[in-house]
Amino acid sequence: MDRIRIVGGNALNGIIPISGAKNAALPLMIASLLTSDTLTLENVPHLADVEGLIRILGNHGVDIAVNGRREHQDGSYSRTIHFTCRTVADTTAPYELVSKMRASFWVIGPLLAREGQARVSLPGGCAIGTRPVDLFIEGLAALGAEMEIDGGYINAKAPKGGLIGARYTFPKVSVGATHVMLMAASLARGTTVIGNAAREPEVVDLANCLIAMGAKISGAGTSTITIEGVPSLSGARHRVLPDRIETGTYAMAVAMTGGDVTLSGTDITLLDTAIEAIRRAGAEVSAVEGGIRVIGHGDQIRPVDIVTEPFPGFPTDLQAQFMGLMTRANGVSHVTETIFENRFMHVQELARLGAKITLSGQTARIEGVSRLRGAPVMATDLRASVSLVIAGLAAEGETMVSRVYHLDRGFERLEEKLTRCGAIVERISD
Ligand code: EPZ
Repeated sequence: MDRIRIVGGNALNGIIPISGAKNAALPLMIASLLTSDTLTLENVPHLADVEGLIRILGNHGVDIAVNGRREHQDGSYSRTIHFTCRTVADTTAPYELVSKMRASFWVIGPLLAREGQARVSLPGGCAIGTRPVDLFIEGLAALGAEMEIDGGYINAKAPKGGLIGARYTFPKVSVGATHVMLMAASLARGTTVIGNAAREPEVVDLANCLIAMGAKISGAGTSTITIEGVPSLSGARHRVLPDRIETGTYAMAVAMTGGDVTLSGTDITLLDTAIEAIRRAGAEVSAVEGGIRVIGHGDQIRPVDIVTEPFPGFPTDLQAQFMGLMTRANGVSHVTETIFENRFMHVQELARLGAKITLSGQTARIEGVSRLRGAPVMATDLRASVSLVIAGLAAEGETMVSRVYHLDRGFERLEEKLTRCGAIVERISD
């Protein structure tokens, strides 16, 4: 199993190209199930989760053609992938596939809307919390679907003539359930109004793609989204938006190691709250043409308290990385996680590097230390593992991160991007 070896202490200087967003690419790929025409997605990141979803979609009858990789001047790869689902080959998403990636559960929306039925395995538990699916069940039931749980699967059946538009307000904000409702309601009869919708940029990206496919959607990016159903959708060409979590991660890395890095191909407005927190911690962050410039001062990190919230609040997917940054702050900070109940697995691993963190319920108290020391650590989930990489970059000596397959799910060519900016990071394949 691969490991990543980091020798910390170097400042980061140079350009880091930001990839297309994993969490936008996945629902966009799933939207290809809604049409018999070709959906072409540009700027699709090359990640294990994308490859996994390609296999899953293949099982449902989606033909996939990758245009080959094209290297850009800044060295980033972006792939253009064509997805064509002439006919749905199978409306069942089996346990073996869904259990590997929660987002694959989202096929329930398009399958139900296009084929009138779907049988999708419950995704099961996950390392960061219980992550139930009640909101998906309630939302699709509001559109007239019969939803039944049987043998670990959800059997969903649309009424004769298809799903019916309705008003439905989520009791809690869910990114995935909003994606699914958008896709399902696009092909429903009549108008759907979703209340308390997720406002994440990835929801807006999916809505824009669906609109390009012929859907009638307004209000994406606000809490109320209105969808006027259409009888069918066509193909489209759509560019995946930049990855705001990757952007924030590298910005925090620079804030921690010190240095001067331009994050290219990204957009500062995708992560205002996180940028504000990084600035308060002492780094200089500014919008520059085609990206963001971050100047970090390494040793002069100020303590900042954050609370994770749905967009536009501080993203839970940057919580672990920000905690990494705070381990070196000059004082005490607090990080409160409100989205997932068990997203603190990085705490004990950061402690191995010398961090002083105590947990009390959903809040971590971080007492900044003047230095971290490299150590062997273990990746536990995607974002937790990259927080260990960031901390390793700022630690003295060698940090060895094992179980890096978690990182490969969501960070495209991490070692290469960091090495180009002066970090000592290498992948060791055993
Ligand atoms: C998306 O997950 C992201 N995944 C997550 O990123 C991200 O952490 C999360 O949104 C929150 O921003 C993708 O986009 C692929 P939710 P999702 O439904 O949609 C509860 C990463 O590291 N809930 O918004 O699954 C749920 O348990 C991943 O890239 C219900 O109670 O998250 C959680 O507490 C990790 N019932 C909260 O809502 C439901 O039916 C928000 O989850 C559904 C969700």
